[in-house]
Amino acid sequence: MAAVVSTSLNGGAAISSHLTQFSGLRKSFLKLESSNSNSTQSFFQNIDSHLRLASANKGCRSVVTMAGSGKFFVGGNWKCNGTKDSISKLVSDLNSATLESDVDVVVAPPFVYIDQVNNSLSARIEIAAQNSWTGKGGAFTGEISVEQLKDIGCKWVILGHSERRHVIGEDDQFIGKKAAYALSEGLGVIACIGELLEEREAGKTFDVCFKQMNAYAGKFGHTVSPSPPVDAVPSWDKIVIAYEPVWAIGTGKVATPEQAQEVHVALRDWLSKNVSAEVASKTRIIYGGSVNGGNCAELAKQEDIDGFLVGGASLKGPEFATIINSVTSKKVAA
Ligand code: PGA
Repeated sequence: MAAVVSTSLNGGAAISSHLTQFSGLRKSFLKLESSNSNSTQSFFQNIDSHLRLASANKGCRSVVTMAGSGKFFVGGNWKCNGTKDSISKLVSDLNSATLESDVDVVVAPPFVYIDQVNNSLSARIEIAAQNSWTGKGGAFTGEISVEQLKDIGCKWVILGHSERRHVIGEDDQFIGKKAAYALSEGLGVIACIGELLEEREAGKTFDVCFKQMNAYAGKFGHTVSPSPPVDAVPSWDKIVIAYEPVWAIGTGKVATPEQAQEVHVALRDWLSKNVSAEVASKTRIIYGGSVNGGNCAELAKQEDIDGFLVGGASLKGPEFATIINSVTSKKVAA
């Protein structure tokens, strides 16, 4: 019987040198109830049945499953950090790291260093911006357009990050508009969502996350949306959902694997009910918030965690490589 290899994280980045040959990611295609009913009872029954299936799988100790069908995805969000020198060192560390092949890897440098990174980083790693304007460029002082990002070599943009929501004050509608525009222009979107600590403590985690998801789908508040909704994302093909509980970001207080899995499974269920079962299966739902080289393997073992969005630990090349290579926690040995 195939055994699942749990990665030891003490050995730095060179995880690929393990002797084990992997035959692929173990997938589990859990059939989500396709009912369109919005009733709370039906929602929780559905979640409950999925969770029961998930925990039945966990009982089988050597099996690590992946509920989604998308490739593992790891993004590094460098935020407002770095200098020309420190970024050149980080790029050279990333260029010399051994990375598992079946992971999509993206880094998001500050705007002013994107060109430097694009000219020096291995093409193995794609580049994201940390923000983009809601529409075509023009008289918008201080903003950067999607067209300019594409021109300079970006393939992705991070939108809806908690720091933009809660420090800068961006609201759901504004973020939804940005996401719709970026996608319509062919940029991939790392669409962030997540609850504040007081919202979690008040039992509102799912409400908050679903409201933020609704905004990406072009539905706001309780009003009935026009059909098709204004500023709905045109397609879910190039969206990666990043669940980042605000209380876990930059705090060193990571969500437990169970806490993260609980929300990820609910998000996949939301996608199934509000978009389609196919999108629910294909869309990567990644976790962010104090992910590091020491906790990534346990998180990666959760079947609905399809990767990570990493802040602080993405500024250290070898540690970021360890996080990328935590995909081996999901693999089945040949
Ligand atoms: P952190 O940030 O890893 O430093 O907590 C995550 C993020 O903000 O994307």
